[in-house]
Amino acid sequence: MTDSQFNDMNAHSLITYILENHHTYVKSSIPMLEQFSKKVVSYHGGEYDELVKIAALLKGLFVELLSHIEKEENILFPNILDLQKIGKDDKEINPKSESNQNLIIAMIYEHENALKVLGSIKNISNDYAPWGNACKTTIAYFAKLKEFHEDLLQHIHLENDILFPKVEELIKELTGKDKDSESNELRGELSDLDDELF
Ligand SMILES: [Fe+2]
Ligand SMILES: [Fe+2]
Repeated sequence: MTDSQFNDMNAHSLITYILENHHTYVKSSIPMLEQFSKKVVSYHGGEYDELVKIAALLKGLFVELLSHIEKEENILFPNILDLQKIGKDDKEINPKSESNQNLIIAMIYEHENALKVLGSIKNISNDYAPWGNACKTTIAYFAKLKEFHEDLLQHIHLENDILFPKVEELIKELTGKDKDSESNELRGELSDLDDELF
């Protein structure tokens, strides 16, 4: 799918796409990568310190990523879906609520951190290129790591560059309408005042 196709989606469809494709992918890949990592460290960790370093980085990354995804699924995404549903007269939900904006800032920060860790793994693994006599497991492991990195790049691109700007637009639209109605009210009050004075 192209960026313009993603841009044409509303927030609800885009969130569904991200959940079904990227969140599911992360959750199913982590146990697979953990198994690979354990295996290659036990077979070749003595000879290749890189494998031990990668295993340590992955361990931290997976903890962070799973908690990140949980925050998106349980807090941020439901909030965004609420924003899409509310009308301009809905007083229950504050579209500009600090929690939404702070959460988005926090998510972007966590994205950067995850990409930094994957950047280090990419360097340590020499761009995911297994050494000449690497075993089949190591070759499959590096290929999976590369795929995982590429998937996360696209996942983060969809959130940072397409979904979050859409949310900002939604917030602007909702608060903009509020401002209009407020200024109409104010205008009404002023003309009432005019009538009273003259
Ligand atoms: Fe996500
Ligand atoms: Fe995210």
